Amino acid sequence: MTKYNIKKVKGKKQIVWNPGRKRGLEEAKERIGDIEREVKLLLKNKKKIKVLEIGCGYGKVLLELKGLFGDRVELHGTNLEKRWDLKLIRRFALAHKMFRKKDVNKNLPKLHILDSGKKMRLKSSSFDLIYAQASVQYIYDKAKFLEEINRLLTKNGKAIIELQEKKIDSDVNIVSTAYPVEYNTLFEIWNEGKKVDVLKYLKKFKNVRIKTAKKGWSVLHMTKGKRFSLGLELINSFNLNKLYKGWWGTKAVYRVK
Ligand SMILES: C[S@@+](CC[C@H](N)C(=O)[O-])C[C@H]1O[C@@H](n2cnc3c(N)ncnc32)[C@H](O)[C@@H]1O
Repeated sequence: MTKYNIKKVKGKKQIVWNPGRKRGLEEAKERIGDIEREVKLLLKNKKKIKVLEIGCGYGKVLLELKGLFGDRVELHGTNLEKRWDLKLIRRFALAHKMFRKKDVNKNLPKLHILDSGKKMRLKSSSFDLIYAQASVQYIYDKAKFLEEINRLLTKNGKAIIELQEKKIDSDVNIVSTAYPVEYNTLFEIWNEGKKVDVLKYLKKFKNVRIKTAKKGWSVLHMTKGKRFSLGLELINSFNLNKLYKGWWGTKAVYRVK
């Protein structure tokens, strides 16, 4: 796949920025809540905080946070694909006039190209705020991912994770008619041959709360838990997009250990 999607406008080449990778703070409000407010709250008790966005795309939220909070935030992001790199984020920032050319480099986040559903090459207990919008649905091992988030959180840190555990036609908040019933849920747990309610299962953990986003699906709030383990074995996970190009996300199926 090509790195840039180019189109010609009046004979001039232009990058087409994918709307599914350029969500900012405004879009986040509908999906996971007010991230700016969360940063402000954390900064009441600490001079400087470390923030991690999982699946940051073009890094718009991170760039906006840098614009708002400057040196009081150390910003990190992850992306899975090598081509979604820092050069692209830099280009995005300049194209959208988020920073001037002379200032842009010092305002870029630290980008980690890795799979957030595996052990991440990041230090334990080092992030005060971790959030994800529109990215967990693509992660192959969602349980391992949540355990990793817990590992990375500081003692007083907070994670806000869009679960999108089921496919919803978000305008009307009903289970999507675009997906067959087998693929309407992306996070599936089974116990002794019986399907387990994912949200009820997650809510059992003291450090986890489930809220509902304006968009209709669930948002997981997590604080640091001691020896946090979901007790799940990943049986299989696959990319729905490979089955049919009109479907998105990875379906992950677990068994309670
Ligand atoms: C649909 S884009 C959303 C980007 C951005 N959060 C937004 O809302 O505009 C999904 C993002 O998740 C990232 N992603 C998908 N699977 C991932 C994984 N296993 N580990 C880390 N990032 C992943 C992709 O690299 C991409 O940036």
